[in-house]
Amino acid sequence: MEGSKKLHIDHAAQWSSAGLTIRQKEPKNLEAPFDPIDSYLTPTELFYIRSHFPTPTLDQASYQLRIDGAVRRPLTLSYAELRSMPSETRVVTLECAGNSRVFLVPQVPGAQWELGAVSNAEWTGVPLRALLERAGLADNACEIVLEGADRGTPKDEPLPPDPISYAWSVPRAKAIQPEVLIAYQMNGRDLSPDHGFPVRAIVPGHYGMASVKWLTRIQAVCEPFRGYWLTSDYAYWASMDGKPVRHPLGEMKLKSEIARPHVYETLAPNLTYTVSGAAWSGETDVTEIAVSTDGGRTWAEAEFLDPVRRHAWRRWKFDWLTPKETGPYTLLARAKDASGLVQPDKHDKNYGVYVINHSLPIEVFVDD
Ligand code: MTE
Repeated sequence: MEGSKKLHIDHAAQWSSAGLTIRQKEPKNLEAPFDPIDSYLTPTELFYIRSHFPTPTLDQASYQLRIDGAVRRPLTLSYAELRSMPSETRVVTLECAGNSRVFLVPQVPGAQWELGAVSNAEWTGVPLRALLERAGLADNACEIVLEGADRGTPKDEPLPPDPISYAWSVPRAKAIQPEVLIAYQMNGRDLSPDHGFPVRAIVPGHYGMASVKWLTRIQAVCEPFRGYWLTSDYAYWASMDGKPVRHPLGEMKLKSEIARPHVYETLAPNLTYTVSGAAWSGETDVTEIAVSTDGGRTWAEAEFLDPVRRHAWRRWKFDWLTPKETGPYTLLARAKDASGLVQPDKHDKNYGVYVINHSLPIEVFVDD
């Protein structure tokens, strides 16, 4: 896959001066401005923030990363030791599983994310696989639990009796893939406090909840870890023999979003307007993007601005000659992946308040 040498990315490219939108002040839940996607990488200060507890204060000098559980040689690494290991740099899009929740009708509880609980950055760190090899991962370990230093009492029932730390478990098959990073840099600089300083996990292709920030412990387990976040919170209804069962969320689903125009923007009639956006998916490549300007009756192919790079978004554009006839128009974007899968037109209710990956209607007015 792509290493840093092959990437030609302008870290200085600017987005607009718009800042983040506050969805919740404390703990910090801040949405990125999705519309000014002029730059492929989201500048760090505009990258969305999704935290369940207040940002912990960690010190680089005393930082320790413990690797234990079902391993033959448990070990503890200092920040300097981690930095001295061979590193990799990858571009990865993170999307919160609750992104676009505001589009669900009727309204559901939870932060009302619009289009910007998704961002794209370049991450540098040590492959998790290298750490697991060093620790001697047991053959029967089935999951790798990633634990953060942040603690508190979560808000959704059923609640654990005492404060807990944020922790997520990654299936072994994914954890040993070369793209999973224990990262210490974002966009070429040390992680910022809100994005996990000094060290976080980056699990490309999985929803953001797997990319544990303020990472202090990596624990291999031989039974599925059924912690709060994987059962009470980021879980969905799968089917076992026709019976619904709870499973933790994992892979990001194919999705495209329209960045421009905005909902309820007024566009001039009979003029070329460049509709733009981005598309991404989990463990496959986005290969086609179509746009409808008539609420889904007809579709036209849009043009990608970025090459295929697994786990990173591709921006796209479509030049629309706006109609002469004034009135409301509904725009939709629909992505297709390499396997032929097409972005759905409806939200799958098995996912509850998460995985809102259907084509999102953007209503605009053509008026002079
Ligand atoms: N890691 C810790 N320790 N605590 C958290 O609350 N939030 C998760 C994940 N990692 C979280 C965490 C969620 S739900 C998301 S979507 C991503 O971090 C967001 O990463 P970001 O804030 O850097 O955008």
